[in-house]
Amino acid sequence: MAIPTPNSPKARDIAYNIHPFTNPHRHEEVGPLIIERGEGVYVWDDAGNRYLESLAGLCCVGLGWGEKRLAKVAADQMEKLAYYHSFAHRSHGPAIDLAERLLAIAPEPLEKAFFANSGSEANDTAVKLIWFVNAGRDKPEKRKIITQMKGYHGTTAVSASMTGLSYVHAGFGLPLPGFLHVETPHAYHGAHAGETEEDLATRLAAQLDALIVAEGPETVAAFVAEPVIASGGMIVPPRSYFEKVQAVLKRHDVLMVADEVICGFGRTGRMFGAETFGIRPDIMIVAKQISSAYIPISGVLVSGAFYDGIKAAGDRFGILGTGFTYSAHPVAAAVALETLKIYEERDLVAHAARVGAYMQQRLAELADHPLVGEVRGVGMMAGVELVRDKVGRTNFDPASKVGATCSDMGLKHGLIVRPLSNDTMALSPPLVATEGEIDEMVNSLSAAIDDTARWISEVDPV
Ligand SMILES: Cc1ncc(COP(=O)(O)O)c(C=O)c1O
Repeated sequence: MAIPTPNSPKARDIAYNIHPFTNPHRHEEVGPLIIERGEGVYVWDDAGNRYLESLAGLCCVGLGWGEKRLAKVAADQMEKLAYYHSFAHRSHGPAIDLAERLLAIAPEPLEKAFFANSGSEANDTAVKLIWFVNAGRDKPEKRKIITQMKGYHGTTAVSASMTGLSYVHAGFGLPLPGFLHVETPHAYHGAHAGETEEDLATRLAAQLDALIVAEGPETVAAFVAEPVIASGGMIVPPRSYFEKVQAVLKRHDVLMVADEVICGFGRTGRMFGAETFGIRPDIMIVAKQISSAYIPISGVLVSGAFYDGIKAAGDRFGILGTGFTYSAHPVAAAVALETLKIYEERDLVAHAARVGAYMQQRLAELADHPLVGEVRGVGMMAGVELVRDKVGRTNFDPASKVGATCSDMGLKHGLIVRPLSNDTMALSPPLVATEGEIDEMVNSLSAAIDDTARWISEVDPV
């Protein structure tokens, strides 16, 4: 990237902003890609270049950019009641309407909703609620949380502890005590020779069982998992994984928490990943596509039985002493409600299932490329993993930056595509994408992979 001119937006960004998940020193060298506007599945940078946003931002802009109905609802709600809180028995129409609508579409046995502003806050809150309920039923020591290696649950101190990615822990002294991680359910790298998906699921469920027994079931409160591990590599679990895991959890009185921050609202081709993978969650975390990311809002949905536990603990401790100034913010709630209405009116989940099947079929064509180890996915989420050795399934050294290079090549072909760990190129376009736009996305990715292969032959990375 050229050296930014003084006082340009790039120079001022370097001067004033600290970016999440970015190397600060390198940012000073390369500067930002400044995105100025969006329409449908496309965004434009400040030089007027158009990109197909194959990740819907951070897997969140389900409706694509430029949905005027959401802008209008936000403006109307700001004029009517710009803010009110929900502490101490206060409420307002948008909070009530959104909770009712959400619970009408949520899987059984979810019956009550608590709102926050981000996926991290919602996961943090879920853990606190679990601790609160167990303390209320005289089991204060039942508080350990088990998650999966490569699972992503956020970056607050608690949700980062749940996250199973070392780069989220490094330098922060995390995970906190009492947060445990089990093996990633990924057949491509994790299955033993001759092991079927079912065998792998059986082995992983047995490992979970052994961990709970070793820790003492009286100390283990919950298992939290994304239906599909998204940020950790778009990893679809082996067949029967959740069925077998849930049998283990039930045996030990351990709660099942589904983190649907990415999978929720159509991403997997059903309304929730829980439906796609047969999960019956005691608690479900929602965010991102709940408002198509037009405004921050998240939710913790809990079962009736769990809510009874909150009530009992509330009697014991006086109040439920947790929540946020912006919990169920009226503007955010109104925008989320309108988003859910649009999903329904346009039958967007069925559209995502149909276009998702097409997207998986088109991406599968890349599997024969010498650089591609695995193409995996479900619905409108997928990962294309680039490998050094196809037969041995060996990845490049992360320092070689093969995924980042492919992402840079993508920009040259008008595509924003994000590299995840193991050089997995992640794809989760807006749910509104058409088959024609999927063709464009796959063709651009294919060209970027070809360019990356050429670059590899020149620089010979390890
Ligand atoms: C599955 C999952 N859970 C939680 C989070 C954290 O959400 P947020 O970044 O809104 O805090 C993310 C973010 O990508 C996520 O993918």
